Amino acid sequence: MPVPLFDIQTPLAPLRAAMHAKLAATFDAGAFILGPEVAAFEEELATYLGVPHAIGVANGTDALVLALRALGIGPGDDVVVPSFTFYASAEAVPLTGANPVFCDVDPETFCVTAATVRAALTPATKAVIAVHLFGNVAPVTEIAGLGVPVVEDAAQAVGSRAAAGAAGALGTVACLSFFPSKNLGGFGDGGAVATADEVIAERVRMLRFHGSRDKQSFELVGHNSRLDELQAALLRVELPHLDEWCDGRRAAGRHYREAGLGELVALPVPADGADPAWNLFVVRHERADALGAALAGAGIGQKAYYRVPTHRQPAMRQWTPAAELPGTEEAARTHLAIPMSPVLSRAQAEQVVAAARGAGLD
Ligand SMILES: Cc1ncc(COP(=O)(O)O)c(C=O)c1O
Repeated sequence: MPVPLFDIQTPLAPLRAAMHAKLAATFDAGAFILGPEVAAFEEELATYLGVPHAIGVANGTDALVLALRALGIGPGDDVVVPSFTFYASAEAVPLTGANPVFCDVDPETFCVTAATVRAALTPATKAVIAVHLFGNVAPVTEIAGLGVPVVEDAAQAVGSRAAAGAAGALGTVACLSFFPSKNLGGFGDGGAVATADEVIAERVRMLRFHGSRDKQSFELVGHNSRLDELQAALLRVELPHLDEWCDGRRAAGRHYREAGLGELVALPVPADGADPAWNLFVVRHERADALGAALAGAGIGQKAYYRVPTHRQPAMRQWTPAAELPGTEEAARTHLAIPMSPVLSRAQAEQVVAAARGAGLD
């Protein structure tokens, strides 16, 4: 039997009836923009994360743009961001008029560290985007110690935890995505901004709604970036199951370890104090493409997500970093995502490991 790279359908199947009922009720209620489902979801999400404010927006990329704008970031400012991440983490920065300054990652955790961020600070640095990549949790508390506001990019890490709290509750402001393959995946695009800061929360609420509180007076040049009522209604059905799904992801990581995967490839290392809910299970090998081809040949889902790191993407040419980023280059060259989901079984993990062993790569 093939093993897919991820499995969205199986965990959702038991919720089908509840979701259909919710959809019908939302249709009948007839309030499709910023209605009661969005308000209730925002409250439930804030409670889940342990922060006072969660604001639903259209997607995770907008969450980043709105969070940066709410921090007052704009032209002339620098924002430190890792290069080894999904492109949107960095793309959000020039969308505010600011400059991305690319920093390195630790290839073992795939995350930024206080040292890699410190090396990229400039006199114009106004924020750091700490990406919790693949579900790992970047050391936000240590980075905040550098004296710069930390924007968490928690798109891939909803449900992950650090010693200080949930991913999404650690920095000045956090950005979440509900893209379907994320840990809390919707049925289309969706995102949220979470923060303990009342002023930032109010600015994000306005920025998502054309810079207005009441659609009469427009105080900011804003955006139309709202979480859809239908998405919120469905996410409310999912949220009570998120921890159980995250535990399934953690168990899948253990299955790989116990099946001996660590003898064949470098396993992802949780950052200090992190308890990751792996969104993607990403291993490293010097011959990652050969490993990927062997897995594909055995019917096993695999993907190299960021072979070309963000700082070498054509649109980022003008922000080429001054220094080399050796951790980034290593991660980009050697990483490979293998199957991960809340329902990945021990038998499936053993099948993946057997196929990796069969590839005969030392
Ligand atoms: C690390 C990271 N940041 C930001 C985003 C952007 O989220 P969205 O696709 O919801 O705009 C994503 C997701 O795709 C992501 O993986």
